[in-house]
Amino acid sequence: MTFSVGLLGHGTVGAAFHKLLDERVDAIEASTGLRPEISGVLTRSRGEFDDLLERSDLIVELMGGLEPAREYILRAMAAGKHVVTANKQVLSQHGEELYAAARAANVQLRFEAAVGGVVPVIRVIHETLAAAHIERVHGIVNGTTNFILSEMARTGASYGDALRQAQELGFAEADPTEDVTGKDAAAKMAIIARLAFGVEVHLDDVPYEGIDHVTADDISYAKDLGLSLKLIGSAERIDSGLAVRVYPAFLYGGHPLASVNGSFNAVTIESPAITEITLSGPGAGGTQTASAVLGDVISAMIPPPTLPPPALDIELVRDVESAFYLYLEVADRPGVLAQVAEILGLQGVSIKSVVQKGLGDDAVLVMVMHPVLESRFSAAVELLARLDFVRARPRTLRVIEETFEEKSA
Ligand SMILES: NC(=O)c1ccc[n+]([C@@H]2O[C@H](COP(=O)([O-])OP(=O)(O)OC[C@H]3O[C@@H](n4cnc5c(N)ncnc54)[C@H](OP(=O)(O)O)[C@@H]3O)[C@@H](O)[C@H]2O)c1
Repeated sequence: MTFSVGLLGHGTVGAAFHKLLDERVDAIEASTGLRPEISGVLTRSRGEFDDLLERSDLIVELMGGLEPAREYILRAMAAGKHVVTANKQVLSQHGEELYAAARAANVQLRFEAAVGGVVPVIRVIHETLAAAHIERVHGIVNGTTNFILSEMARTGASYGDALRQAQELGFAEADPTEDVTGKDAAAKMAIIARLAFGVEVHLDDVPYEGIDHVTADDISYAKDLGLSLKLIGSAERIDSGLAVRVYPAFLYGGHPLASVNGSFNAVTIESPAITEITLSGPGAGGTQTASAVLGDVISAMIPPPTLPPPALDIELVRDVESAFYLYLEVADRPGVLAQVAEILGLQGVSIKSVVQKGLGDDAVLVMVMHPVLESRFSAAVELLARLDFVRARPRTLRVIEETFEEKSA
């Protein structure tokens, strides 16, 4: 059965959502029994809202801005249609009106993509932690500023140069004002605070400071002290009240948010019941945001599944590539390292780094291998274990080589 999705906006996120829906439609139909199809698209130059509404079971709003987004969302809900939106502006300024209208019409208003891109902050706060007494939510909720600050720290670039680079790479818009002044993060924190604490929070209630006054010197001196600068959004209970703010702050290296680099977002939720949870991932980008929007569409189409769908026939792979650490106790005599290297080489295992330490008559070889299939590495270790100069069973551990910085760059 077809499920008609009316799409308002066909820009960065709208076009990516349209493409993703087309790519995933067979898989969605197989798991839900419903086939979502775009019933029409509205932009400034094409489509007509009333006609689109008539033909749709659900409306996806990806236009942005306050009007006519607010009006269209209200009219869609009044017509009994579920709405999915990524619009933090409208939710942070007209949230109460929109939530009340959704309640009155008994329809769903879903907005995971409005905060944290694909990072499921809204779902976790609203559903997973529905029963938790949340004390504090804080994090990095703007990818543009995090990219600029990360680049300034990494390369010593000035604020202006890092901003220009962010624009060239598509991490900052031509007019970056909302991002660099902290206003975008403030809108997201208003939405988060409303959900986490059940309190009405308007964008105007959130004081915000940006990063446009930060200099390369601030960042470089602080780096020498082990500090890194992040634009932090924070909402926390203080005495009997609630403080919601956005401000740049230095963090020490061990802080969970200190290693969140590039355009990534991360949000930490604290509650006595759960201690804390940190969620992180791409905070923006057409495809990533579209994925969160599509997740919301599927949730609105059908009641959330409590059981996994029937299993697919996909092979479970056991022999996987990994880098390895190898600890060998050997007799300290000439040619040992060459023989070990030869046996490893015959199995296709190549050494990335090696440290050798003498211990009287014996020596210890500690090596890290380049990634190799586990089966080949195990075969090489079995051969090494049988050599007469190997004194004890070789010890091995896997090495995960990737760094968080590489993944988020
Ligand atoms: N980009 C991201 O990475 C990202 C991440 C998270 C959330 N979001 C949110 O997603 C939403 C869309 O962002 P975007 O980056 O995709 O914006 P965008 O590239 O500027 O696209 C906006 C689209 O909406 C249409 N539109 C704007 N005003 C309209 C109006 N009055 N009537 C009809 N159509 C109108 C535009 O039509 P024309 O093509 O005719 O101009 C365009 O197709 C925003 O709420 C944004 O905050 C974006």
